[in-house]
Order: sequence, then structure tokens, then C-alpha cells
Amino acid sequence: MKILVTGKTGQVGHELERSLQGVGEIIAVDRAQMDLSNLDQVREVIRSVKPDLIINSAAYTAVDKAESDPDAAMIINGIAPGVMAEEAKKIGAAIIHYSTDYVFDGTKRGSQGEFVPYTEDDAPNPVNVYGKTKLAGELAVIDSGCPHLILRTSWVYSTHGKNFLLTMLRLGNERSELNVVDDQWGSPTWSGWIADTTTQIINKCAIKKSGDQQDIGLDLSSFNGIYNLVNSGYTTWCRFARQIFIEAAGKGNLIGQNIPSVLPIGTRDYPVPATRPANSELHIGKLQTLLGTPVTSWEHSLIACLRNFRQ
Ligand SMILES: NC(=O)c1ccc[n+]([C@@H]2O[C@H](COP(=O)([O-])OP(=O)(O)OC[C@H]3O[C@@H](n4cnc5c(N)ncnc54)[C@H](OP(=O)(O)O)[C@@H]3O)[C@@H](O)[C@H]2O)c1
Repeated sequence: MKILVTGKTGQVGHELERSLQGVGEIIAVDRAQMDLSNLDQVREVIRSVKPDLIINSAAYTAVDKAESDPDAAMIINGIAPGVMAEEAKKIGAAIIHYSTDYVFDGTKRGSQGEFVPYTEDDAPNPVNVYGKTKLAGELAVIDSGCPHLILRTSWVYSTHGKNFLLTMLRLGNERSELNVVDDQWGSPTWSGWIADTTTQIINKCAIKKSGDQQDIGLDLSSFNGIYNLVNSGYTTWCRFARQIFIEAAGKGNLIGQNIPSVLPIGTRDYPVPATRPANSELHIGKLQTLLGTPVTSWEHSLIACLRNFRQ
């Protein structure tokens, strides 16, 4: 099986290249090899590689920048995924496409006024440009008619790239006190776990084409929907930051002698260009049923991620 992975330099793409070893022949491409804002190049690469599966982890992820750069965000997040899916369909391939909690407006509440997690069936209503472009991408993939899995994830962090974990570790070394937003709820999700769980899902969708052990194909009928793909449990950015410092303190090389105080602030005290949903909680029941095992908690994934920093 040939798997084309986009966004190889990203948090998820980088981990996919590791995790997918052994699943098939992996062709991982970066922006120079396949620029998602160049739709002709996107078509050409897919036609020449002829993959059995495309995993699109490339995206315009600069949420605040997208507010003033909507056209670029739309072509990369909203249009290119549809072109990939159309090409995939023509050659009998499937597509796995990542999306986001930011397709929702974050207002979902239960009868007591408490936040309740969004299921895959809840109606999206994005409140920022990034979310709108990601929703357009989801719809384009679905409309293509290509066998697809759309995996919605949230609050992604990793040992490399730009993310909240690395920002906190840097600021923790520079300051004794940090103010962090405490009224947005969601699930921090480690890119290594996203990649490993994606691999698990692919293995579940794999079928032997012949008696030959290496001759593996995909059961395309199982590529048919949206799944929330996040670590289990919900928290706020402030509580996540505190947990980062608790765990990092056990690894002397990550932060200095003093653990900073993390003070809670409201979203309104930290103005940024893009509106964020207050409730980013995603329900993982459907994923859990697919995997047949409990989903790793965000706290456990954080510990696993921190183990990957060199001692
Ligand atoms: N990060 C999050 O918190 C978060 C939350 C929810 C959902 N997601 C979704 O999860 C998926 C993976 O995100 P991530 O965190 O791994 O993102 P990331 O670390 O920001 O990586 C994005 C990747 O996309 C590539 N890319 C950007 N523009 C491109 C273009 N025009 N052509 C080709 N490649 C391009 C980047 O390449 P360069 O290195 O060249 O820039 C990079 O490899 C995305 O679909 C994202 O929307 C992410």
C-alpha cells in the first residue's frame, strides 16, 4: 500500500512519518514538493505518486494570521483538500483529512448551563476565519464522493514546531509568573498520539488482498465519516499550563530551578485577532467504539510527550 502524507514538517506530519513505518510505502511531502496553494501541483503530485491513501496533515494553522489572510487560508484549508479528494477518487484511493474543534462556535451547553462536548453530528458554526476555512475543507472532501475519514482534533502540541507546550516551557524559564486563559475548555492532544491512533485506524481498515503478507489494501467502505480524535478529558489552557510545569519539574533539563506561578485570566484579558470558542470539548465515544479501547487521557499523553525530550 502506498501512502502519500502531506505536511511532513508539521507536528502531526512529522509523527506520521515515524508511526506509519511498516504500514506501507510512505511518500511524505513538504511544502516545496507539494504546495497546497498550487492546485496544479497538487494534482500533478497525486497523479504521479498514485497513492492508495492520502493523509492530509498540511494546513494553514496560524489562527490569528488567517483573520487578515483569508484567501491564502481558504485555498490551503478549504479548496486544496477537495482537489486532493477528487484526485484520490479518480484513482480509487481514500483520504484521511484532519480538521478541528474550531468548526464549532463553542456555545454548546447542557441543561444546567454546563459545557458539554460536541459530537460528530452537531452542527458546525465557526467563529473565526481558520474555522470557516477548515469547515469548507471538510465539506469539499465529503462532496468529492471520495472514501474519506475526517479526523477532528484540538489543541495540538508536540516536541517540535510552534505550540502551547513549547511556549510555556520557554516562558517558564524566563518569568516567575504567567497569566493564562482559564475560561476556554478543550482537550490538549499530543501529535504523537494523533499519529499512532491514525495508524491504528488505518490498520483496522486494512484488508489482505492475497495470501502474500505484504499485499495489503484498504476496505474503502470503512472510510465514511467524521471522527473526533482527541485525548480524553477536558481542561483549560491555564490548568494545562500548570500540569506542564508539574510534569516538566520532574525533568530537570526542561525548566530551571523555579516553577512559575500560573495565574488564571479571562479570554477578554488576552485580546487576539481571532475569536476562540469557549467550549472546544469534543466527544470521543465514536472514536472509542472504533478503536475498541479507551482513549489515552491528555495527562498521560503529556507525560509520554515529555519523555521524548532528550534527557
Ligand atoms: N495545531 C493545532 O492546535 C490544531 C488544532 C486542531 C486541528 N489541527 C489540525 O491538525 C492538522 C495538523 O496540524 P499541525 O498542528 O500538525 O500543523 P502544523 O504543525 O502547523 O503544520 C502544518 C503543516 O502544513 C504545512 N503547510 C502549510 N502551508 C502549506 C502549503 N501551502 N503547502 C503545503 N504545506 C503547507 C506546513 O509546512 P511548513 O513547515 O512549510 O510551514 C506544515 O508542514 C491540520 O489539519 C490542522 O488544521 C491543528
